Amino acid sequence: MVEKFLEGKGALITGGASGFGKGIAIEYAKRGADLVLVDINEELLEETCKKIEQDQGQKVIPIVCDVSNSDQVQAMSKQAFKELDNIFVLNNNAGVGLNFGKDLLRIDEERFDKTIAINLKGQWLVAKNICKGMRRQKFEPIAGKVIHTASIAGMVVDNKLPAYTISKMGIIAMMKMLAQSLAPKITVNAISPGYHITGIYDNREDVMKMTMDEGHVKTPLNRYGTVEDVAMVSVFLASPASNFITGHNFPVDGGIAEVGVPAWYIKSDI
Ligand SMILES: NC(=O)c1ccc[n+]([C@@H]2O[C@H](COP(=O)([O-])OP(=O)(O)OC[C@H]3O[C@@H](n4cnc5c(N)ncnc54)[C@H](O)[C@@H]3O)[C@@H](O)[C@H]2O)c1
Repeated sequence: MVEKFLEGKGALITGGASGFGKGIAIEYAKRGADLVLVDINEELLEETCKKIEQDQGQKVIPIVCDVSNSDQVQAMSKQAFKELDNIFVLNNNAGVGLNFGKDLLRIDEERFDKTIAINLKGQWLVAKNICKGMRRQKFEPIAGKVIHTASIAGMVVDNKLPAYTISKMGIIAMMKMLAQSLAPKITVNAISPGYHITGIYDNREDVMKMTMDEGHVKTPLNRYGTVEDVAMVSVFLASPASNFITGHNFPVDGGIAEVGVPAWYIKSDI
């Protein structure tokens, strides 16, 4: 049995149809939250929402929206506040990993723009539209919590993912600025995953392993990351246990970004 500290509280998760968004939605629902899941992939979104509603018995509302489109984000935010009594947690998570492997000076403009528009501007647009309403909520001592999904590429430059790295470094900067703007009523933090098998890798271990091999990445804790590794830190950041924490980035990466090992040190394939 888990403690239902999100009972009576609403959570909005972008990129909720798949990967981390879906895993986080399941853990929040287990803890009593009603949910709005936002995604651009309508079919997968419907499927995920129905499944979580059936399994967990919480309200799970799908809203199809491209987070990089200002009009759509405005409409989505209005609908979300109508569907839920409150939005206590905003999980700003939708993102794409384009342009793998190309040097910064060789990536094309269209893909650069798309990466920045979805990963960085998208999180800003959603925060801008949702936090206005969140600020007015009467919960004490914290009126709401914002959790961004960044990446270890936002902590250590990844030359194989140039536009992605720029977008994720931008998210960490934005998270700190929002934490200042929204204090003392709203906490704002980020989670930076390492390498986890999700839709971003076609849900395939071999695709992720190839990416790690090409980047000469080794994991000090000697295993791949899971969706649950990230979802459980998100649960902590959504819970009262983190009420005195704001403006921080939490790497969930088995030690890749800040511990690191020489490539020859670990003999396994991971
Ligand atoms: N998987 C990893 O190892 C890893 C590592 C670091 C960071 N991340 C970040 O985690 C977040 C979630 O990705 P994931 O790994 O769960 O991948 P995923 O592909 O499983 O999930 C991402 C979801 O975002 C949705 N999405 C994409 N563009 C959108 C848009 N314009 N508007 C609305 N929704 C959109 C997708 O349809 C998908 O359902 C992303 O921000 C990603 O950059 C992932």
